[in-house]
Formats: sequence, structure tokens, C-alpha cells
Amino acid sequence: MEFSQDKKTMLSMIKPTGHFTLGNYLGALRNWVKLQDEYNSIFAVADLHAITIRLEPKALRQQTLQAYAILNAIGLDPKKSLMFIQSTVPAHAELSWILSCYSMYGEMQRMTQFKDKSKKAPDNVNLGLFSYPSLMNADILLYQADVVPVGIDQKQHVELTRTVANRFNGIYGETFKIPEPIIPKVGAKIMSLQNPLEKMGKSDSNENAYIRILDDPDTIVRKFKRAVTDSQARVYFGDSSEKAGINNLMTIYSAVTKKSFEEIEKEFDGKGYGDFKLAVAEAVVEELKPVQERYNELMSDKATLEKMYQEGAQEAAYIARKTLSKVKRKVGFVK
Ligand code: TYM
Repeated sequence: MEFSQDKKTMLSMIKPTGHFTLGNYLGALRNWVKLQDEYNSIFAVADLHAITIRLEPKALRQQTLQAYAILNAIGLDPKKSLMFIQSTVPAHAELSWILSCYSMYGEMQRMTQFKDKSKKAPDNVNLGLFSYPSLMNADILLYQADVVPVGIDQKQHVELTRTVANRFNGIYGETFKIPEPIIPKVGAKIMSLQNPLEKMGKSDSNENAYIRILDDPDTIVRKFKRAVTDSQARVYFGDSSEKAGINNLMTIYSAVTKKSFEEIEKEFDGKGYGDFKLAVAEAVVEELKPVQERYNELMSDKATLEKMYQEGAQEAAYIARKTLSKVKRKVGFVK
């Protein structure tokens, strides 16, 4: 894998907690594939980030491998993009500590994800959950990323990265590039199918709330059929919270088929929600089919997969080390 001098650098990561959802796919992963030719691209499975919640070691290991296989299965190409697993590159944890000394308690406390997650698991508000954005800062800044494609829920974290990078640069002189978040126009926030006022999350206790990238066709159809809608029986994009379910289904359908909301309204004029839900489900099944096929191939050859992520780790470590050495020198650590 060769990076071009003329291209900007793009970086993004995904946590291997639970199963990747259609939200991850439409809000992030699919855009990574679209953008990988335009940028020098770096993608990783953020397993260090995953342990802020309790996971079975066996499950974490398996989910990490699955996540890495999914990155490949969606069309990210290791010949073009650098792909690795976060915990295999020690520089992330090291830079995270250094940056945490340039991140303010008040700033961290304002992170909405920290507040939400603390509320959801009040008995495990650990220090890692609090300093999580500092690790994310390290992920991004180590590779001098210009752009970071994410769904809307991660925008605040990338903004914090900018703040901390600017602060560090202000003290020590130009050290880090200041990254820019890229948020997709459609699909930046896919909502839960059961509570369309909440984000579709991969750790939802209700399986009907989310579509997994690896769900089989029957399951996908069943979950869409059960999706919460309203009693108007008219497919249109509306402002009221009552319309949130239909708005979400329209967003999914639009993101997958590239049809505009107007075209969708016309297509389902005079038809009921049953027809609409089935159409959305079928479009999603078609979109995910090639991903699932490729995923199954990759998972049946673990040795190749392992070789791929080990190579990725070496290349990532080489780039990361350059930034880390510079930072350590600037801060005043001995050689
Ligand atoms: P994570 O693993 O929660 O999500 C991965 C990506 O999927 C997006 N996403 C969604 N987009 C639309 N609708 C949804 N319902 C939805 N749910 C998730 C997220 O915005 C994200 O882009 N902290 C990050 C992982 C991370 C990272 C990084 C990202 C670690 N280091 C450095 C960028 C750069 C996270 O937990 O994402």
C-alpha cells in the first residue's frame, strides 16, 4: 500500500461492540468506501474503545475479527487503504495519555455521549468512558488526518480533537494537522426501528430496533415489517415527531436507492405502509447481499485475515511512531 503525496489523509474507526448495524453502514462505512480513492485512507477497528463497557473476552476477540472482515467485505481495499486493529498499535494508548494532559475536565464532562452512556450504565461509569474522547483524539492526530468521516453522533468528539490539537500546537508550535469531520447528507443519523426518536444503536436490548449488516433476508423483512410508524397511512416526510418512523424509513430507502424524498412520496402515493416497508426491506436486502457473501468468504479463511491485519499493524505503527516521537520530543521526554 502506497500513499500519494498529492492526496489528503482520511481516517475513521468503528468500535467492535455488538453487531454492526445499518446505521453504521449508511452513516459511516459506506461513505468510507466511496471516499477511499480520493484520499490516503486509514481505517481501524477501535477495540481499545470497546472495553469501556464489559465484554466477554471471547466475544470481544470474535467481534474484533468480524469487524475487520466487515471492513474488507464492504469494499475497503487493503491495497488502497491502511486497515488495522487499534490495540495492535501501542502508540494510540501512549498519545492518548499525553493528550489527556491537554484536555480539560470541563470539556470532557460536556460530551453528550459520555452523559448518555453514564445514564445508561450508572454502575459502570469508569474513567475510560470519561477519557474516551482523548483516545479518539490520539487515533486521529497520530496519522495527521485531514478529514474524519463520521455519523452525526461523533461530530462533537471530532470538534474536541480540533480544540485539543489547536491547544497543543499553540503551546509547542505546529505539531498536529487540524482535522475536519465529514458528515453524510443522507443517513448521518439512522434511527431505531422501534423508537424512531433514538439513534439505531448496536447495543440496543431490543433486537427489532436495529438491522444488522449480517442479518439474513427473512430477519430483515420481519424487522422492517415490525418497524414503528404512525396511523396516517401516508408516505411523506413530515416535521412532527409522529412522522419520525416514516421519516427514518424514507431516509434508509433514499440512502440505499438514491431516490429523493419527492420521488419516494410519488412512488408510494395511494399505497399503504405494508407495501412501503416491504420495498425498504427488499432494497436493504439487495444492498447487503454482496457484503454478506464476501464476509462469509473472508471468515472462512482466518489465516489470511490474520496476515492482513498484522501487515496493517506494521504500516500503521510506522506512521504513528513518527508523530509520537515528535510529540515526545516537544513535550520534553528524553530520547
Ligand atoms: P461507533 O463504533 O459507535 O460507530 C461507527 C460509525 O458509525 C456511525 N454511526 C451511525 N451513523 C448513522 N446512524 C446511526 N444510527 C449510527 N450509529 C453509529 C458513527 O457516527 C461512526 O462514524 N468513537 C467512535 C469510533 C472511533 C473513531 C475514532 C471514529 C474511535 N476512534 C477516530 C473516528 C475517528 C465510535 O464509537 O463509533
